[in-house]
Amino acid sequence: METPTIRKARMNDVREIHTLLLNVAAEGLLLPRSLRQLYSHLRDFYVIDPGNGGPILGCCALAIIWEGAGEIRSLVVDAKARGQGWGKALTQKCIDEARELGLGRVFALTYQVGFFECLGFIEVTKEALPQKVWSDCINCPHFPDCDEHAMLLSL
Ligand SMILES: CC(C)(COP(=O)(O)OP(=O)(O)OC[C@H]1O[C@@H](n2cnc3c(N)ncnc32)[C@H](O)[C@@H]1OP(=O)(O)O)[C@@H](O)C(=O)NCCC(=O)NCCS
Repeated sequence: METPTIRKARMNDVREIHTLLLNVAAEGLLLPRSLRQLYSHLRDFYVIDPGNGGPILGCCALAIIWEGAGEIRSLVVDAKARGQGWGKALTQKCIDEARELGLGRVFALTYQVGFFECLGFIEVTKEALPQKVWSDCINCPHFPDCDEHAMLLSL
């Protein structure tokens, strides 16, 4: 049996990332991304490749938001692969890349407070995040009544 691995996303993954995000967005856990957004941000993404030619088992993106600040976005692990450390490993890849890029902090807007705490993030007020974040929020269906938690990791 092949072992799944984490790798950078490729063009062929876009439709599967789109589907993964749509499924979880339907539960209200994160924002869906249009195919247009996914193509233009493809280089931000890591995926879990099952290694057997089957569909990817998860994805996560690091978006650079502003000077020194990155956002962990679009984190999903397929329900059948949860609880095995893949979410942590995907997020860690993005954190490692943020460090390599010289970013000073990464943040996430999320309902999964405990998960991000496991990775060393702390909860902060949303006002502590760069103002540039809010340009995305305006397009969010939850705006302006956002009940997500702002989680920050200093690098
Ligand atoms: C959140 C999610 C990515 C976690 O993926 P996962 O592969 O199951 O997580 P892991 O197995 O890597 O768990 C890592 C650690 O976080 C903990 N954890 C996972 N989800 C948690 C949660 N919701 N609350 C508290 N702790 C959590 C695990 O117990 C584990 O702790 P340990 O290292 O002490 O064993 C996955 O549940 C998911 O896709 N959820 C739906 C989409 C979503 O909410 N995405 C987040 C948007 S920002």
